[in-house]
Amino acid sequence: MKIDVLTLFPEMFRPVMESSMLGRAVAGGILEIDTTDIRDFSHDKHNKADDYPFGGGGGMVMMADPIFGAMESVGAENKKVIYMSPRGKILDREKIEELSGLSEMVILCGHYEGVDQRALDYWNAEEISIGDYVLTGGELPAMVLIDSVARLLPGVLGNENSALDESVYSGLLEHPQYTKPREYRGLNVPEVLTSGNHQLIDLWRLEHSLQLTKERRPDLFEKFLQEEHAFSKQERKILEEIMKIEE
Ligand SMILES: C[S@@+](CC[C@H](N)C(=O)[O-])C[C@H]1O[C@@H](n2cnc3c(N)ncnc32)[C@H](O)[C@@H]1O
Repeated sequence: MKIDVLTLFPEMFRPVMESSMLGRAVAGGILEIDTTDIRDFSHDKHNKADDYPFGGGGGMVMMADPIFGAMESVGAENKKVIYMSPRGKILDREKIEELSGLSEMVILCGHYEGVDQRALDYWNAEEISIGDYVLTGGELPAMVLIDSVARLLPGVLGNENSALDESVYSGLLEHPQYTKPREYRGLNVPEVLTSGNHQLIDLWRLEHSLQLTKERRPDLFEKFLQEEHAFSKQERKILEEIMKIEE
C-alpha cells in the first residue's frame, strides 16, 4: 500500500515510519509512506501556507493553492483522498477494514483552524475523525489511521490471524495477559495459565473475555450474542453463567 501524507510538519512522521511495526512494514516493502511538505507549493516569498478566514474570527486557515499543488504533485486525482478532521465520521473497525483494501491513498493533515473548504470539495476528500476531541493538527490522527490500517495488511504482523484475535476485531475485548515471572511482589499469575492444559486455558480466556466485554462494552456483548457461534458444550455453559450475572 502506498500512502501519501500532505502536511506542514513532515518531520513528525520520520520517527514513526522508522520504528516498530510500521518501520518493519516500510522496510519490508509492504507499506510505502511518502510525506509531502505543503509549504513547498506556496507561491509566497515566505512560504506562507495560511491566511485569515473570510468573515472574520480567530485563527488562520490553510490556503487552497498550496494544497492543490501538493495534491497534483502526488496524482491525487486518481486516489482516495482523506482529510483528518474532528468533523468527520469517527474511525472504526469497519472504516479501517475498508481502507486496508486500497492500494493507494492520500491523507491531508490540517492545522490552525483547518483548511479552505474548496480544497476538500475539489479533491472529494472524505473527512475522518479519531474521536470527539480536538488536536492541534492532523499529523497524530494520520499516524493513528496509518498504524491501524497497516496492522491489517498481510505480512505486517508476524501471524496474519493475530489482528483478528485482538480486542474488538474478535467481537470481544481481550482477556488479561501475563508474562514472566510467575510471582511478582506477591502477585501471582492465575494457576490455569501455567498448567499446560490448553483446553482449560482457552476456556479461562473465553470466560474473561466475555466478562470484560459484558462489563465494559455491553454494546459489543449484545452484538456478540446476536451472532452465530460454534460453541462447545463447556463454552456455552460459560456464556450462560456470565449472562446470569447481574449488571
Ligand atoms: C485545531 S484543529 C481545527 C479544528 C476546527 N477548527 C474545527 O473546529 O473543526 C486543526 C487540525 O487538526 C486536525 N484534527 C484535530 N482534531 C482532530 C480529530 N479529532 N480527528 C482528526 N483530525 C483532527 C484536523 O486536521 C484539523 O484541521
